[in-house]
Amino acid sequence: MKKREFLIITLGIAMSLGIEWGSEKKESHASEENRPQFFTLAMHQQKGEEKPVSDLVFSPFIRQGKLIYEKNCAYCHALDGTGQNAIGQFILPHPRNFTDPVETRGLTEARMVTSIREGREGTAMPAWEGILSEEEIRQVIAYIRKAFMKQ
Ligand code: HEC
Repeated sequence: MKKREFLIITLGIAMSLGIEWGSEKKESHASEENRPQFFTLAMHQQKGEEKPVSDLVFSPFIRQGKLIYEKNCAYCHALDGTGQNAIGQFILPHPRNFTDPVETRGLTEARMVTSIREGREGTAMPAWEGILSEEEIRQVIAYIRKAFMKQ
């Protein structure tokens, strides 16, 4: 009898813990729910492969840009700005390598604004107008230029 009670209580605790873990898991994935699954997968792969840039050296304006970049751009352009992650390698033409001075020659701030707003026709680069505000576009450009183009 005692043994059975013990078993029931243990089972009860295990089940309630299980339910809690279940709901926590759901919550932590909620923010990624609206992202197509392969993007989510790529983000997870990236985390192990690349070293994210430390944000201690950035101003609040640029740190905001870093958040925007990591949320919206990194799955194609890679966390380290090279475009050489699971997805970037497969996209043709490849996302530009922001850390390569040759590939970024002529990539002025003004050109970046236009490319980000309107996208790049005939490539995978989407248009962000209406998704990112003008200020967010400025912030993400400031981050790309500072962290990857070293300007
Ligand atoms: C679905 C993949 C994808 C996503 C997401 C993406 N890009 Fe791109 N991006 C590309 C590709 C591919 C190119 C190369 C286009 C080309 O060769 O003209 C590119 C090019 C660019 C360029 C250079 C454009 C030029 O004028 O040469 C900038 C700047 C840029 N992306 C910024 C961003 C920013 C900022 C974000 C996030 C807000 C972003 N991209 C999200 C795929 C992507």
